[in-house]
Amino acid sequence: MENRENNTSDAEIPSAELEEANGPVIFYNETVIDHFTNPRNVGEMDENESDGFALVGDPDCGDQMKLWVKVMEGKICDIKFKSFGCPGAIATSSMMTVLAKGKTIEEAKQLTDDDVVNALGGIPEHKKHCSLMGISALHAAIKDYNQKPISK
Ligand code: FES
Repeated sequence: MENRENNTSDAEIPSAELEEANGPVIFYNETVIDHFTNPRNVGEMDENESDGFALVGDPDCGDQMKLWVKVMEGKICDIKFKSFGCPGAIATSSMMTVLAKGKTIEEAKQLTDDDVVNALGGIPEHKKHCSLMGISALHAAIKDYNQKPISK
């Protein structure tokens, strides 16, 4: 026999429970949502165009990103990324590219995931690990650039 007491519509669910059920989106601030819905510097570079490349992933969640950097006179003059990731990964990767573009290689190497999170005005505590992917990719792409036998 069907238990009709458990059949409730949204209108009968207390608002606090509804808020929780509607979940993660409400925990992101407007800047994070902006970078997720309109990520900056998305794209690819071909081998001839790029001076450094990285493919990184988070083994715990399976998210991945590719990053390309172009360097002129010791500065990151262009940067592109593609991400197969969660909203936190996309927003933090987008902000990382904004922070890295125009910086010297030495300045870009000093960027941290905290810089990215602070520039976004914060992200939920349980999503902070997502900000590591963009920074890891940046550091790996710089390493790739530094290992290339080209005149710098
Ligand atoms: Fe995988 Fe965010 S959950 S990077």
